[in-house]
Amino acid sequence: MGKFIIKGGETLSGEVNISSAKNAVLPIIAATILSSGKCTIENCPMLLDVFVISNLLRSLGAKVNIDLNTSKLEIDTSEVKCIEPDSELVRRMRGSFLIMGPMISRFGKAKISLPGGCNIGTRPIDLHLKGFKALGVNIDIGHGYVEASTSKLIGDKIYLDFPSVGATENIIMASVLAEGETIIENAAEEPEVEDLSNFLNKMGAQISGIGTDKITIKGVKSLTPVIYKPIYDRIEIGTFMVAAAITKSVIKINGTNEEHIKPIIAKFSELGINMEKDNESLIIDGRKELRPLDIKTMPYPGFPTDMQPQMMALLCCVEGTSVISETIFENRFMHVPELKRLGANIKIDGRSAIISGVKELTGCSVKATDLRAGAALILAGLAAEGETEVSDIFHIDRGYVNIEKKLNGLGASIKRV
Ligand code: EPZ
Repeated sequence: MGKFIIKGGETLSGEVNISSAKNAVLPIIAATILSSGKCTIENCPMLLDVFVISNLLRSLGAKVNIDLNTSKLEIDTSEVKCIEPDSELVRRMRGSFLIMGPMISRFGKAKISLPGGCNIGTRPIDLHLKGFKALGVNIDIGHGYVEASTSKLIGDKIYLDFPSVGATENIIMASVLAEGETIIENAAEEPEVEDLSNFLNKMGAQISGIGTDKITIKGVKSLTPVIYKPIYDRIEIGTFMVAAAITKSVIKINGTNEEHIKPIIAKFSELGINMEKDNESLIIDGRKELRPLDIKTMPYPGFPTDMQPQMMALLCCVEGTSVISETIFENRFMHVPELKRLGANIKIDGRSAIISGVKELTGCSVKATDLRAGAALILAGLAAEGETEVSDIFHIDRGYVNIEKKLNGLGASIKRV
């Protein structure tokens, strides 16, 4: 298992280039199943999760070519067959379940092993299945599998009890080739859902209401393969914004979409951080004394749950009392015991964490429990006195491209061992 050794206390400076969004690229790769031919994804982030879903598509007969030099991903889905995807691959990554919608659209049937939960929550799929059933799909669950079959997909109105990102994406992909019109109400508004919809419209789909909580999809006969460049990763942007704040540094972040990071910018303003927009870049000045604040994670455009652990690491070092409420996932506080090992003062009360800022964190060995918790521990290590060792960093490589190289490029001192 890989480790990061971080020497704390370095001041950061310079510029960092943000990669494309993992959570936009995964559904877009799944959506290439909807057309027979070759799609090209430009500026594709070379992440573990991208390699896993690429292997999943290969196991279905797709030809996937990953060019690490040009960051291009070419996927030819002409030969994709309606076979059961490798259940080990599906269980390794929940995002694999996003091939369900495209498989049903293309073949009228699919059999996929039930996605495992993961340690941040049970991660149910009831809303995905509610949408498929509304479109006329028969669903059988048994022996750890979900089996779907339909003679014809017919558009319908679907209300999502919770604006689930994955359910919205899967239902959009199951309805783009259906007969008639589908309306998804209380749909997820995340930028990654918007990016998938824009990708599908470029392929010839007819999706409207993109970026709102009411999405209308008019079924079309077929889609054609395209070349597409996904959006930047708003969570990676937020992670580097925290890196500047927690090390009291000034850095420039290249590849920012102000609209997508509005909730994060709002909270950084409340903290008292100076920010300056420069075209598609953001200059963060973290040198000022920061104010404690309260955060409540909410569906977009609320504060993103994927930034909750990183913000907690920062608030551990801000004098005063801050409260973070996690309303999206029921078990997304596994970074708390690890942050406490570094000297943080945090009390958990149900879905809330009460953080009392401490003067200084002290380095020690900690363990990444999930992707964003791992990122939070790296950030805490940047500020902690002495050396911090973060283990199980495969979690981090799932969602960040060369995070230690990017941070070292800013002046941090991180060794991957
Ligand atoms: C996506 O997961 C992201 N993953 C997650 O990012 C992100 O945290 C999450 O959206 C919320 O923004 C990808 O896009 C690959 P949800 P997803 O369905 O689609 C409940 C990261 O760190 N729910 O919006 O699984 C569920 O229990 C990862 O990059 C149902 O009840 O998230 C949860 O409480 C972590 N029934 C809430 O919705 C369902 O059928 C949010 O889940 C589906 C979800």
